[in-house]
Amino acid sequence: MRAALLRGKAQPLEIVDLEIAPPAPGEVKIRLVASGICRSDLSVTTGVLKSPMPVVLGHEAAGIVEELGEGVSSLKRGDRVVVSLSPACGECLFCNEGAPNRCFQMAPGMIGSTMLDGSNRLSQNGERIYQLCGVASFAEEAIVCARSCIVVDDDVPLERACLLGCGVLTGAGTVFNFPDIKPDTSLAIIGCGGVGLAAIQAARIKGVAPIIAIDIDPAKLTLAKELGAHHALDGNDDVQKAVRKLTGLGVHTAIEAIGNVATMESAWEMLRPGGLEIAVGMPRAGEKIPIRAGGLFLEKRLAGSTYGSSDPRRDIPRLLAHIRNGEFHLDPLVSEELPLERAQSALDDLAAGRGARHVIVFDH
Ligand code: APR
Ligand code: ZN
Ligand code: ZN
Repeated sequence: MRAALLRGKAQPLEIVDLEIAPPAPGEVKIRLVASGICRSDLSVTTGVLKSPMPVVLGHEAAGIVEELGEGVSSLKRGDRVVVSLSPACGECLFCNEGAPNRCFQMAPGMIGSTMLDGSNRLSQNGERIYQLCGVASFAEEAIVCARSCIVVDDDVPLERACLLGCGVLTGAGTVFNFPDIKPDTSLAIIGCGGVGLAAIQAARIKGVAPIIAIDIDPAKLTLAKELGAHHALDGNDDVQKAVRKLTGLGVHTAIEAIGNVATMESAWEMLRPGGLEIAVGMPRAGEKIPIRAGGLFLEKRLAGSTYGSSDPRRDIPRLLAHIRNGEFHLDPLVSEELPLERAQSALDDLAAGRGARHVIVFDH
């Protein structure tokens, strides 16, 4: 099967033929229909995120179940599924605390780019190929953990539903799952890419007001307003002054959806006393946020969020319900559909800030 392979940091993706082993117990083989391209994929190519190489990128996907590994009873051949990042076990300490996004079983995929047992199912002429997040969806087929798959109805277009696997769930989940974000409280969203635009839509659904979108790309700000932001601020301007003008004391909550420590600092500065910053973007390992500690005396709080603090089995169906009743829109998030051969140009576009989400659609 064909896949886009990353051999090493800063190298271009190569379209290659790979061997794919059958699914092991608890795993399934998926014929991929579509894969979103997320900033975290780009971050692996630049070295901001680490992964063993060579690796097949791609971690938000949708497709059709083609083959079941031993013991899989939750899925059947032909099921249409969204592949989530979380094969949450339901049994570990974190799953029992209601935080499946922190499940111990996330680690092999997220840190080691392997399946749960630490091995891989892809190879090229005998050489081991790693699978980003245990998903590796820049490929025509994928072996994934059955527990990562969420079945969707026949009328859900997989070319859009793939975005629920990571970016959309991360952005929307943050808003839906943080109790601090309430109706009629102010919310700033810094970074209006795939993640930020999903957060804006969730905030509109939750009745949050005002929603203040901040980005440096005018096209993103236009989209942000169309999708529910009440105000759009150019990140190149004095956003602190603008936020104070709109809110008086500052915002109740600020979400950073870029992964940039400078905007994490900016989010901290725009909080009102008692306000909460939620850092969703993934910074380079080891980076530090230069925040003024005096803000703590104003009872400001800083929180992180992984995967929108989501439980995919609960939150993907909830999002699908919002999509079905016309409250949440995936179409405007997709700037371009392209074939696997153009995966590299999609990464280049993302790096240059061109468009919102690009989606690879597979031609089988
Ligand atoms: N100020 C404001 N906006 C900025 C700035 C800045 N200094 N720098 C970049 N942006 C905007 C870009 O214009 C873009 O619209 O941030 C947005 C980032 O969007 P994407 O590149 O589409 O990233 P996305 O996939 O949404 O991911 C955001 O979440 O999951 C993590 O790893 C992911 O850290 C990344 C973050
Ligand atoms: Zn668990
Ligand atoms: Zn992602």
